[in-house]
Amino acid sequence: MPLDLDFVRQQFGQLHDDPEFVFASNAGGSYVCNQANAVLEHYNRHTRVQPYAGYPVSDRAGEAMDRAHRGWAEALNIDPDELTIGPSTSINTYVLAQAIGDLWKAGDEIVVTNQDHEANSGAWRRKALEKGVTIRQWEVDPASGLLDIDALFPLLRDNTRWVFFTHCSNIVGTVNPVAEIVKTIKSRCHARVFVDAVAYAPHHVPDLRALGVDGYAFSLYKVYGPHQGLMYVNGEIRGDLTSQAHYFNSGNPVKDYNPAGPQHAQVAACAGVLDYFAALHEHHFADSLTRGHNRRLDDLHPLILGHENALAAPLLAWIGGRKDLRLIGKSHVGDNDRAPTIAFQPLAQSAAELTRKLQQAGIGTEHGHFYAHRLLSDLGIDPDDGVVRLSLVHYATLDEVERILRELDHALGKAA
Ligand SMILES: Cc1ncc(COP(=O)(O)O)c(C=O)c1O
Repeated sequence: MPLDLDFVRQQFGQLHDDPEFVFASNAGGSYVCNQANAVLEHYNRHTRVQPYAGYPVSDRAGEAMDRAHRGWAEALNIDPDELTIGPSTSINTYVLAQAIGDLWKAGDEIVVTNQDHEANSGAWRRKALEKGVTIRQWEVDPASGLLDIDALFPLLRDNTRWVFFTHCSNIVGTVNPVAEIVKTIKSRCHARVFVDAVAYAPHHVPDLRALGVDGYAFSLYKVYGPHQGLMYVNGEIRGDLTSQAHYFNSGNPVKDYNPAGPQHAQVAACAGVLDYFAALHEHHFADSLTRGHNRRLDDLHPLILGHENALAAPLLAWIGGRKDLRLIGKSHVGDNDRAPTIAFQPLAQSAAELTRKLQQAGIGTEHGHFYAHRLLSDLGIDPDDGVVRLSLVHYATLDEVERILRELDHALGKAA
């Protein structure tokens, strides 16, 4: 069954502001679905009081926040006590580094990658340095940017405490097989596994129990929602970690890893994203009301994947075929593991120059290192100029892809 793109596009008001503009920078932050905007507006207009205070409006405010919390826990197949809703993924990982770092001692080891956004790298590295913990780097292939599981295995030791990697790099765009990697790690040692899914979740929100991870984080402002970060920490280990909440709130699972405190309206609006997926499911499937959030997301995945593959395939083929462009990551969608997050280095002009031409032609794209500074350096690319990144999600159309290709062709001129 194909995705009904007209229905999808009706759910995003901003898509209709300027029909001439092609938004190709979704990996920086997606458009917000109407359902999330509706919840945000409703909260701000009708329940803008301190939640959980015990009077009727306050109860409704608290319930709006709880609905989001419960809904996302169900969507991820985790316990609500395992979910933190904080201001962003960067701050969530920073806070978690303080919480888990207290357990680390000299002689311990961690594994990080050079494929990750710095949000899933710097905080762990700094804490490791502070504690005398050895940092081992799981390195990408310097030509393609891909990670190979075989290169991870030799890095694992009996004293490896944590392994941190990404579900999908925001530059390479290729999905790492998380369940398989977790299995490999657990077969070798007792390390815990934390995965950054910020660049993956816009394409699919997975079942975390099935993945077997101990920690998982992503940002809802890239998944059609408000500027909030969702973070899972396995209930089995929470008891060992140091709460980062005020001392009198310590042990409160909502607060333990969110010293910023909840942003009430934004938290409530997180439920709007699930309302969007529920509407999408109801539109495509007959038995929608009997399916929970988790099953709905599962049902929707092949529809979204099919459309996203159709968007990515012509871009990858065209870009991969140009001698004056260096494509990062896989050049095909045949393995169903290539998000339409497509980064490339122009070889005959700067990324800045090409980006400016595309922007002038009405394509919303960007260039740079996108905070994957280590990756670009190790790929031999100047991080300041960086790569041009075209990032699409399921609401993009094939016409938009054609437009991007036309404008790229025009901006590049004849290949040398
Ligand atoms: C792959 C990846 N990880 C982490 C982050 C950081 O997320 P946040 O902006 O919520 O801190 C980003 C943001 O661009 C990202 O692309």
